[in-house]
Amino acid sequence: MNRILITGGTGFIGSHTCIALLSKGYDLFVIDSLKNSSKKSLEKIKEIFKKDNKDISSKLRFFEGDLKNKEFIENIFKKAQEDDNPIKGVIHFAGLKAVAESVSKPLLYWNNNVIGSYNLIKSMEKNDCQTIVFSSSATVYGNTSEDLLKEDSPLSPTNPYGTTKLSVENLLKDISQNGNWRIAILRYFNPIGAHKSGLIGENPLQKPNNIFPIIINSAFNKEKLKVFGNDWPTKDGTCIRDYIHVMDLAEGHLKSLNYLIENDPQLLTLNIGKGRGISVIELIKTFENVNNISVPFEFDERREGDVCQLVADNSKLKSILNWSPTKSLEEMCIDGWKWKNLNPKGYS
Ligand code: NAD
Ligand code: UD1
Repeated sequence: MNRILITGGTGFIGSHTCIALLSKGYDLFVIDSLKNSSKKSLEKIKEIFKKDNKDISSKLRFFEGDLKNKEFIENIFKKAQEDDNPIKGVIHFAGLKAVAESVSKPLLYWNNNVIGSYNLIKSMEKNDCQTIVFSSSATVYGNTSEDLLKEDSPLSPTNPYGTTKLSVENLLKDISQNGNWRIAILRYFNPIGAHKSGLIGENPLQKPNNIFPIIINSAFNKEKLKVFGNDWPTKDGTCIRDYIHVMDLAEGHLKSLNYLIENDPQLLTLNIGKGRGISVIELIKTFENVNNISVPFEFDERREGDVCQLVADNSKLKSILNWSPTKSLEEMCIDGWKWKNLNPKGYS
C-alpha cells in the first residue's frame, strides 16, 4: 500500500489524521521533533485499532527529528527506498502555531515553519516525491469584513505565524509551475474536539491560547475563563468562528490526498470549515449543555489582533472533493470533554 510521510504526526491534527489514513490501509512514516507533542499519541492510536482487533504496528513507524535538519529528512526518504516502498506523498503538519510567540520570536517561526518546509520540499523533489498536502490556516486572510471567506478573498496575515503560512503557500505556488507537483493547500478554520474513543486529543505542551482547550480546563478546574470582548457587532457581542471536528478535518486530509493521487498534477487551495458561524458564548453554552457541566467565565477586553468573524465559504471543498464536514458542534464538545476526563494530565 502507498506509503505516506506525515510530518508533525504526533501532534493534535496529525495524530487524528493518522487514524483516518490507517483506516484506509495506508502505510505511514511519521516524523516529529516532539517540540509540542508526545509520541504516546501513536501508542494510543495502536490501542484504538487493537480494540477492533486490528494490529497496525507495522504500518505506523515513527522517527524523531526536526525538519530543520536536512540530513534527517534525506535519511527518511532513503529508509523508505531501502524497504522498496518509497514515499508516495507527504502530509505536512509540522510547524509552530502560537500567534503571540510568533510576534515575540519571528525568526524562530521563519526558521522552523519556512526553512523547515523548504528543506522538506527540496528533499521531496530530489527523491521524486511530488505530492503534498499542506496545513495552512484561515489566519492568512487576516482582518476581514467579509461574511464568508472564499479561497480568492484577499490575503493579509496580521502576525508572523500567518506570514510564515502564507510564505509556504507562495513557495508551493511557485514550484507548482514546473514539474509534476500535486499540491493541496488546506486552510483550516477552527479545529476542536477529539477522537470519539477519548484516547487521543489536543495535548498542548505549552499553555493553551485557543478557546476550546481553555473551555475544557475551565470546566475541569472551575477557573473563570476570559471571553475577549462582548461588544463585537455580532448577535451576542462575542466573536464568531467556524469550528470543525478534528476527525472531520482528518477526513478532509484523506479526501484531499486521494484526490491528488487520482488526478493530474495541480495546485489546489481549499478552505476546510463547516461554513457555519458560532459565537464564543454559543460554544460555551453548548459545551455546558451537552456535558452537563458549568464553564465559569467573565467578559474581558477584546484581544489584540482579534478578528470579529472568520467563517469559511466551503463550496469549493464540496464541489471538488464531493465531501463536507458532518460532525456537529455537540459532538465536538462531547468528544473533547471525554478526552479530558480520560486523560486529565494529557498523555501519561
Ligand atoms: P501541534 O503543535 O499539535 O502539531 C504540530 C507538530 O509539529 C507538533 O507535534 C510539533 O512537535 C511538530 N513540529 C513543529 N516544528 C517541527 C519541526 N521543525 N520538525 C519536526 N516537527 C515539528 O499543532 P496542530 O494543531 O496539530 O497543527 C498542525 C498544523 O496545522 C500546524 O502547522 C498548524 O500551524 C496548522 N494549523 C493548526 C490550527 C489549529 O487550530 N490547531 C489551525 C490552522 C492551522
Ligand atoms: C487563533 C489565531 C489564529 C490561529 C488560530 C488557530 C489569534 C489572533 N489568532 O485564531 O492565527 O490560526 O488561533 O491556532 O490569536 N477567546 C476568548 N478567550 C480565550 C481565548 C479565545 O474569548 O481565552 C475567543 C477569541 O477572542 C476568538 C475565539 O475565542 O473570538 C476563538 O479564539 P482562538 O481559539 O484563539 O482562535 P482564533 O481567534 O480563530
